Amino acid sequence: MKVLVLFDMARRIGPDESLSMRALRKDEAKPTEADVITCLRALGHDVEMLPVYDQVGEMMKRIEAFAPDVVFNLCESFFLDRSHEPNVPALLDLMKIRYTGAGPESLLLCKDKALAKKVLAFHKIRVAGFVVSTRTRPIRKLQRFRFPAFVKPLGEESSDGIAKASYSRTEEEALDRARFIHESMDRDALIEEYIEGRELTVSVLGNKRPLALPPREIFFGAADGTSPRFTTRRAKWDDAYRKKWGIKNGPAAPLPNGTADRLARTARMAYRILKIRGLARLDVRLTEDGKVNVIEVNPNPSLARSDDFAMSAAEAGLSYEALIQRILDNAMR
Ligand SMILES: Nc1ncnc2c1ncn2[C@@H]1O[C@H](COP(=O)(O)OP(=O)(O)O)[C@@H](O)[C@H]1O
Ligand SMILES: [Mg+2]
Repeated sequence: MKVLVLFDMARRIGPDESLSMRALRKDEAKPTEADVITCLRALGHDVEMLPVYDQVGEMMKRIEAFAPDVVFNLCESFFLDRSHEPNVPALLDLMKIRYTGAGPESLLLCKDKALAKKVLAFHKIRVAGFVVSTRTRPIRKLQRFRFPAFVKPLGEESSDGIAKASYSRTEEEALDRARFIHESMDRDALIEEYIEGRELTVSVLGNKRPLALPPREIFFGAADGTSPRFTTRRAKWDDAYRKKWGIKNGPAAPLPNGTADRLARTARMAYRILKIRGLARLDVRLTEDGKVNVIEVNPNPSLARSDDFAMSAAEAGLSYEALIQRILDNAMR
């Protein structure tokens, strides 16, 4: 197949500038793109890459010139702005080009974590209680709220703005953190009830009849209260920090009877409700009494070889190559 790999860059790429896989991986910090492109080539496809920054006209020209059978969409932002993520597949829809992964509607829905949770709650999927504090009307009081709270920016990804201070024991701490998010990140804030429990992530693959892959777990090291118990930016990406605190991702430790089924069912249901196709990863917390709480739904999750999605597929017997091919096949359906 002719596959055009579309991804976002933090700068303009000149028409004659070529990106080697090494440069992509190291200098541009795009390991997922490098993994996917290398894999597509190994699968024998005719692959071109389309890095985009801010030029829509250029992007359309390149798509028309190459006339791909399918676009492998890895684009998470446009002009450094993540809120544009849904607009890229929307443009591909208008151009009648097939692409991998989620469409604009589910990207938009999931990006607004508050909206996504309202929709899930309507369908009786358990989510944390929350209030939204906006930049224009910051919350001044938290009434009937069960502390501790967990405060995060609305519409961010990859744990931007999530730090130790997101965990707030009191109203004052929570409102302070929300103010910080308004003032220094220029974002609205989600103030959620903190859910104590094991942190699991469930990868889902497919379209109308999606398949839930084996759950993975994030292990937080010492449980004596000294180490962080949630995935901050550093806990996710900083290897030295992960090592220091013994934070690890791996196959889920044994789950109580029936929990694996419940996780898979919840994941598939959330997937359908949020109109996702292609693939998604759900972040959930499992409470002591066995309740599954959905923390976040990520359509188009990271596809790097070493990330949870690919590892989970591998645990289900699906090699990286088979996974990437499956994602292409799903886009062609
Ligand atoms: N309500 C909550 N209760 C407990 N932990 C939470 C809650 N919300 C977020 N977290 C922790 O913060 C992490 C990041 O939050 P998440 O909403 O998944 O944002 P991101 O888009 O950065 O992945 C979660 O993986 C979890 O460890
Ligand atoms: Mg998350």
